[in-house]
Formats: sequence, C-alpha cells, structure tokens
Amino acid sequence: PREKGWRTPYLYLYQGFWCQPTEILAISTFQKHFQAKDTDVLIATVPKSGTTWLKALTFATLNRNHHSPTSENHALLKFNPHNLVPFFEYTLYSTKENVPDLSHLPEPRIFGTHVPFASLPNPIVRDTKTKIVYICRNPLDTFVSSWFFSNKIKPKSSPDLPIEEAFGLFCKGVVGFGPFWDHMLGYWKESIERPEKVLFLKYEDLKEDVNLQLKRVAVFLGCPFTLEEENCGVVESIVKLCSFENMKDLEVNKSGKFGRNFENKFLFRKGEIGDWVNYFTPSMVEKLSKVMEEKLHGSGLSFRLHK
Ligand code: A3P
Repeated sequence: PREKGWRTPYLYLYQGFWCQPTEILAISTFQKHFQAKDTDVLIATVPKSGTTWLKALTFATLNRNHHSPTSENHALLKFNPHNLVPFFEYTLYSTKENVPDLSHLPEPRIFGTHVPFASLPNPIVRDTKTKIVYICRNPLDTFVSSWFFSNKIKPKSSPDLPIEEAFGLFCKGVVGFGPFWDHMLGYWKESIERPEKVLFLKYEDLKEDVNLQLKRVAVFLGCPFTLEEENCGVVESIVKLCSFENMKDLEVNKSGKFGRNFENKFLFRKGEIGDWVNYFTPSMVEKLSKVMEEKLHGSGLSFRLHK
C-alpha cells in the first residue's frame, strides 16, 4: 500500500509503518546485517520529538570522562549530534550493497533510529544487552514540528504541503515511521515489561526538569553521576552544553549539514511545549484528541499539552 507523502510523492507501508522507498532499502539492510554488542546504546525516537537533544545529552553523558562538558574542544561544539550519534536508516545503512563495518567504533557505540520497536532486529532486542533510550512528545507539538520540518527539507521544486492536508494524513497515521500511536505504544509496552531494556522518556518531562531526566538516563545506562560529579556541577554543565539556546547558536549548527544533506539549522526551531496553539483550529484539537483517546486509551500513556 502507498499513500501521499509529506515531502516525497509517496509513503509506503513497510512492516506496518510508513516510510520512503529509500528508507525501506536502508532499514532492511540494517535489519539483516547489524551486529549488536552488549555495550551498545540505541536512541530510538518518534521523528521531531527531541531526538537531537537526547542524542546530545546521551553522548555528553557517556563520554564525560574523556570529553569534559566544559571543554572548549568538546565534540558537541564542533559536530551536530546526528554526526556523533548516527542514524541506522539515514547514515550508516543506505542501500543493499552498503554494509558498513561498525565493529571498530569505540564502545559504548551510540546509534539512533526511528524504526518502531517491533521492527528492530533480534540482535538488539533479544540477543544482547543493548540498552534503548526512547523519547516521544505530545502529538500536537510533534505534528507542528514535523510539518515545518518536512516543508523545509523537501525539494525546492515541490510545493509546500498545506497544514490541513498534512494534518489529515497524520491523523490517519500516515507520517514517516507512523502511525505515531503504534510507535509510542510499542516502546511504552516494552519499557513496562523490560524496564532494564527500554527507558521511556517524554519531551515535556525533559523540558520540565532536564537535570532529573538526565540523571535517570545515566542510571539506566549504568553510569550514574557520582556525588562528587554532582557537587562539581557536571550535570548542569552537560545540560547547558546541550541546551536549545547553546546548540542553536553554534556555528556548526547554523551552517553544517547532516544525513542526506539536510541543513542542521532546520533541527532547531522553537523548542517549546505548546506551540501547537498557534496552528491548531478548535476542530483540529478535537479531532486529534479523539484519535489519541481512541488509540492510547487504557495504555496509561498520556501527555502534557501546555508549559
Ligand atoms: P520544534 O519544531 O517544536 O521547535 P528532533 O530532534 O527529534 O528532530 O526534534 C526537533 C524538535 O526538538 C524541534 O522542535 C526542535 O526545535 C527541538 N529541539 C532541538 N534541539 C533541542 C534542544 N537542545 N532542547 C530542546 N528542544 C530542542
């Protein structure tokens, strides 16, 4: 099955989720060939839910012993988080022929993906102790962020997708790696059944108290902050280094590129909870609330929609 795409002519249904043909090739190569290690860390996310932020925080935390978060030479000051924590489906695997040797990468290796839990290969899910840190965001803000982003990165020759049309597709589940509810529920259920395997985070919780959430990530990954580190302000330094204000203003993020030649600057827009109020009509709110109620009902999963 295929449906209208947001920034390419069509999205195709692959293993129950929507993606572009190039992604299908990359994902199937990743599924077939990726060799996981016990020490691997996977940042899994719904697109536009705080991937860049979580990648930066995780990279800075896991590498804090050899990259001091206050160093003027920190890798995050010179590289975009997506270049330090590469996506399987955009960067590492691209075609059937392209099977990279990732065995030499320094451990712990940190990777990123938007692939739903049910489609992650067994070496990650069952055969190793690979840890998965997941983040999602309230679907109203995720929708607005996705709509802006896809209009920014689409080919210049094709017209912008009107918000009404994008919204209709989103509510039907037709959006990259959607339906969003299946994506969230897959990781949510696993985080309940196997809390040592999947840590489930929400963008709104990070916005409310990023220090607290960062400490949870560190504990989950087996590298909790020591009392001494806490007293020396290491947590605060990492949070500051990875903050929206800091990252957005870095030269590399104003001018560089990531993935398939997308400009880094498009990754940093507003970084707020509740920007949806500026774009949603009352009937859009009603419709998406209904979809959320119907799809997430009984799961225990809910979202804060305002600051
Ligand atoms: P908005 O479009 O609402 O501003 P992703 O990284 O998954 O692509 O998500 C992008 C969203 O996260 C964008 O949201 C972006 O502005 C926001 N974002 C990027 N870096 C951030 C940071 N360091 N802190 C908070 N939000 C950030």
